Amino acid sequence: MTSVHHRTSSTAMPVPSPRGPASAALLSVLRGDAAPRIFVAAARMATAPGRGLGVLVDDDIQLCLTLLYELHLQGIDGVDDRWGWDAELLTARAALEAPFDSEIRALAAPVVDRVAGPDVVAALWDMTAPSTSPGLSGFMATEATVEQFRELLIHRSLNQLREGDVHTLGIPRLAGRPKAALVEVQADEYGGGRLERMHSQLFAITMRELGLSDAYAHYVDAVPAVTLASLNALSYFGSHRSMLGALAGHLCAVETTSALPSKKYAAGLRRLGFGDAAALFFDEHIEADSVHEQIVVRDLAGGLAAARPELVDDILLGAAACLAFDDLIGDHIAECWARGSSSLRS
Ligand SMILES: [Fe+2]
Ligand SMILES: [Fe+2]
Repeated sequence: MTSVHHRTSSTAMPVPSPRGPASAALLSVLRGDAAPRIFVAAARMATAPGRGLGVLVDDDIQLCLTLLYELHLQGIDGVDDRWGWDAELLTARAALEAPFDSEIRALAAPVVDRVAGPDVVAALWDMTAPSTSPGLSGFMATEATVEQFRELLIHRSLNQLREGDVHTLGIPRLAGRPKAALVEVQADEYGGGRLERMHSQLFAITMRELGLSDAYAHYVDAVPAVTLASLNALSYFGSHRSMLGALAGHLCAVETTSALPSKKYAAGLRRLGFGDAAALFFDEHIEADSVHEQIVVRDLAGGLAAARPELVDDILLGAAACLAFDDLIGDHIAECWARGSSSLRS
């Protein structure tokens, strides 16, 4: 596949460095230097039983998934978009998704088990109730350095610079009340159609104010496997109609855990001397997400569960996975900072 006019550029993900044999094989396929079967074989090897390393912390596998999903989102710089529907690459993606799915379920299970109960709305409020410990956002408010703020923004940048996009994939798969609810929330994420109010644009301003690049996926090589895994879990939910419940649940967890931490992040930026421009992304989310959380929990998740009761388990799975990944990334960052090192890849 080499036809120039199918290639993406400028707003696409820059081509990352490989992180092992599978991602090296995939990148050579996407460059046109190897046949897709080379990657199919490498993906099978990467997920062979008894490899020991968990998929969620496997840099090589997570980078492969990020690339395969990106073919369906903003694309990859210089890569033919038609690779997104190549049968062999989709076969290999499915081989990577099978163990990824199992590990997401195992990660989410303890969170789901805490809230056992048939009422999905009550369970979601229960699951996402603010914790009493100050956590990462508390640290950012009172102690973090500018350099630590930069790291945190870099971890979030791959998702935040396309904020809303993957959850929006739920819209054509929904009908009735949950569809209207998702459209209402997503309209806000896109600034009601005003470029300067789009949340991804507000995040770009924060990146620039802190001296970082706001180019899409600029920091793909810097983020560790666990950050890619969190991103990939959302893309996995958004790429499969069979995971619609999980996609809705994921958004519930995003919206219900945003307002309070956003207040702390904004306070931390102002403590460090940054002004309203840098804090605007977080200021916006204090107000917006205290409204969004009501809409997504009651109307999106509650409405979807009422229409399709068989999706309740998946809704809770998606919410729990989102929370569990936030904890994993938060723990990774805290452990790195506690020993005085960077939470990013060198
Ligand atoms: Fe937002
Ligand atoms: Fe929101």
